[in-house]
Amino acid sequence: MSSPVETHYKAVLSARYTWMLGGLDQCLRAARDLLASLGLPEPRGGTLLDLGCGPGYHARILAESGSRVVAVDNSPELLRELEEVCAGLPVSLVQAEIADVARYAAYGAYSAALCLGDTLTHLDSLDTVARLFGEWRRLLVPGGMLVLEFREQPRDLHGQDAVLTTRAERDRIMQCVLHFEPERVWITDVVHEWSGGRWEVRKSTYPKLRLRADWIIARAAEAGLDVKSEELRSGRRVVVLQSPNP
Ligand SMILES: C[S@@+](CC[C@H](N)C(=O)[O-])C[C@H]1O[C@@H](n2cnc3c(N)ncnc32)[C@H](O)[C@@H]1O
Repeated sequence: MSSPVETHYKAVLSARYTWMLGGLDQCLRAARDLLASLGLPEPRGGTLLDLGCGPGYHARILAESGSRVVAVDNSPELLRELEEVCAGLPVSLVQAEIADVARYAAYGAYSAALCLGDTLTHLDSLDTVARLFGEWRRLLVPGGMLVLEFREQPRDLHGQDAVLTTRAERDRIMQCVLHFEPERVWITDVVHEWSGGRWEVRKSTYPKLRLRADWIIARAAEAGLDVKSEELRSGRRVVVLQSPNP
C-alpha cells in the first residue's frame, strides 16, 4: 500500500514539482550552487548516491562533472522526469524506498551519499532516520561523505501564519496549510489551476518529520560519522558528515 507521502506526490506534487521550485533552469542553478559549496570528493571514477533524487537536478550536475550517480526515488513520475533531465549521462535509476537500503547497496561503495531538498523529513519516523545512519555509513568508502539537507520546523505556526503561498502565477496558484504536531508537520497543498474557463482545485495532505540538527548530529555520531560542517542555507540545514578514514 502507498504511504501518504507517495500518494501526495502522485496526486499533486510530482507533476508540479519543478514548476513549484521556479522551473528547471532555476533548479539546476540552485543545485550547482549547493553542490559547489560542499567540498565533495573529486570524481576520480567514484560513485555517488542521490537519495530521494526527484527530477535529478543534483544527479545531473554531479554526472556532468564526471561522477557515476545512483539515483533512488519511489516516484515513477519523478524518475521519468529525471530520465529527461539526465539524458545521456551516467545516472542509474533505482525505483525504491530510501529505507530499503538493500535495493541500492549493491551499486556502491559510494564516495558520497546525498539526501537533499528536505527529502529526509519525508521518511516515516525518527526511528527510521536513526537506523539509516548506521546502514548508510556501511555503504560509504573510508572518508566518504554523507550530506543531508533538511528544513527544521522549530516553531509551531497557527491561524493565518500557517497558510503559505508556495507559488502564484496567472493560471496556477499553489498554497499550503500547515498543522503542527510534536514529531510531525501535516502539510495540505492546495492547487488552483485555470482550465477551460474555470478553476480546478486539487488538495492533498502529507506528513513531514520535524528534524533538528542537534538530534541528527547526535544520531550520526552514534553511527560513527564525524561532522565535517553544518550551516543554515536558504532556510535549510546542510549537514556534511564523514565516515572515518582507516
Ligand atoms: C522534496 S523532494 C526532493 C527532490 C530532490 N532531492 C531535490 O532536492 O529537489 C523529495 C523526493 O523524495 C522522494 N521520496 C519521498 N519519500 C521517499 C521514500 N520513502 N523513498 C524514496 N523516495 C522518497 C519523492 O518522490 C521526491 O522525489
